Amino acid sequence: MRTSRVAPDLESAPALVRARGSLLGVPMHLLASTTSTNDEAKHAAKQGAPSGSTWVTEQQTAGRGRQGRTWVSPAGENLLFSVLVRVACPPSRLPPIALVAGLAVRDAVATAAPDAQPKIKWPNDVLVEGKKLAGVLVEAITAGSRVLAVVIGVGINVHTRDFPEDLAGLATSVARVSRRPADRTVLLADVLSCLDRDLHVVVGRGLGLLRARLEGADALRGLRVRSDVGDEGTASGIDDGGRLLVRRGDGVLVRWSAGEVHLV
Ligand code: BTN
Repeated sequence: MRTSRVAPDLESAPALVRARGSLLGVPMHLLASTTSTNDEAKHAAKQGAPSGSTWVTEQQTAGRGRQGRTWVSPAGENLLFSVLVRVACPPSRLPPIALVAGLAVRDAVATAAPDAQPKIKWPNDVLVEGKKLAGVLVEAITAGSRVLAVVIGVGINVHTRDFPEDLAGLATSVARVSRRPADRTVLLADVLSCLDRDLHVVVGRGLGLLRARLEGADALRGLRVRSDVGDEGTASGIDDGGRLLVRRGDGVLVRWSAGEVHLV
């Protein structure tokens, strides 16, 4: 199902994004409901939608997270969107792209909630005080071994104050960590302009200079971590390829490139 009316605050998003001169977020499609904005973007990519096209919705009936998880968000409360970016690059650039998307979300949340100290939990969760406030799902459109385009899907908890029991200790929102009322349109425009500025740098050259910004926001650095397959060590930064650096107990520095990380 796909319907097309959003709350008045989001109606002004296309104008704000255009006024800022961002190439991402143009054109912007506002949907009351859809299965998943990532699905909208992937479908439209096949129909020739231009780079920068963005889908924003109030509600997803089949929202997806990383690792096959579902992304559940009460209708009308949060910010759910996907951006289609036509970038030709090797698959090795995908982890840096995902990280830079997480950084854009982190920076926008830091502006929306100046009292909070949002951090990035590798690969691209945004946490405040150890609780998840936002997640990013990057999916690639490929031809053979080349990436032709990416869909960057973002879910930010904005207004939700009461989370279901199973998430209460794990999730938070802008409303919970800020004393000011959260503005979804400004948050969206901030993420898009930050991504617009940084994405092509990373596609062309890898993380490079952005590593310093990532390091300043790294939620894991110095902490004991465990991978899905039971490897353990101390998180020691992120390399140029977007891999997590982990110092094992025997002193060897290893690189983790996929999967979830758990604090020990
Ligand atoms: C994660 O943390 O696992 C990533 C969550 C990404 C959720 C967003 S909501 C908008 C977009 N559409 C989806 O189906 N998923 C992403």
